[in-house]
Amino acid sequence: MTHRVVCLQTRPSFGEIQANLEAAGELLADVEADLVVLPELFATGYSFRTRDEAMDLAEPWPAGATTGFLCAHSERTGGMVVGGLLERDGDRLFNSAVVAVDGRPVLAYRKLHLFGFEPETFTPGDGELPVVEHRGLRVGVMICFDWIFPEAARVLALGGADVIAHPSNLVLQWCQRAMRVRALENGVYAVTANRIGTEHRAPRPELAFTGHSVIVDPLGEVLAEGPADDVAVLDAVVDVARARDKQVASGNDRIAERRPECYRALLRPGTSS
Ligand code: ACM
Repeated sequence: MTHRVVCLQTRPSFGEIQANLEAAGELLADVEADLVVLPELFATGYSFRTRDEAMDLAEPWPAGATTGFLCAHSERTGGMVVGGLLERDGDRLFNSAVVAVDGRPVLAYRKLHLFGFEPETFTPGDGELPVVEHRGLRVGVMICFDWIFPEAARVLALGGADVIAHPSNLVLQWCQRAMRVRALENGVYAVTANRIGTEHRAPRPELAFTGHSVIVDPLGEVLAEGPADDVAVLDAVVDVARARDKQVASGNDRIAERRPECYRALLRPGTSS
């Protein structure tokens, strides 16, 4: 069974929610896909000077314009749409990713691993990494810096994900390479939807987002890659059977042959020394 997945690479203008939704909508206008992935915080931009500034731009879930936009596109395509949301819940803010299916908001995943100055704005999520099935395709969701914790992708694979949808705003240079490894070690497809452009919003450091959004297959091969400095619509066909066959060439099974009884250290809080 094959499915068409699409990855949007966008250039948000900071704080211009309506214009950013319109720009994403133009890129999506002719897209037909079983799964569409948009970047992290694609409607607002990333570099909030203060928590108050972010609070003014934030939207409740599922009532806001950004969730409405993602739902509308999921209804139009009949597929699943995953994209970032600056989520307000009471006086807390979350860096979230919305999953929309058939015009309905299904869930908002709240980023577990906050990057750089994000903790000044956001509360880290404390929920499970979600896997949602639609049209026979199981999609796991994580956000940007979750990539550096291999446990995140592993948990999604153990949850049955065929594809990892990975809305991102990348500023480090290693994620795109690392996602090839995450895909290989878990035997899954991965769709990293990154943004381009720069933000310099003192006192925050100047940030240059790295583009090169990427769709990779369960062997870590690149199926589609975006440019460094332009918006893009990438697409690829994924084969569920390939993602569910966890054998490597030697005949070993990279999931069934795990030895969790020997991995107890994973359950203890880490120290870096
Ligand atoms: C990031 O997590 N946005 C780098």
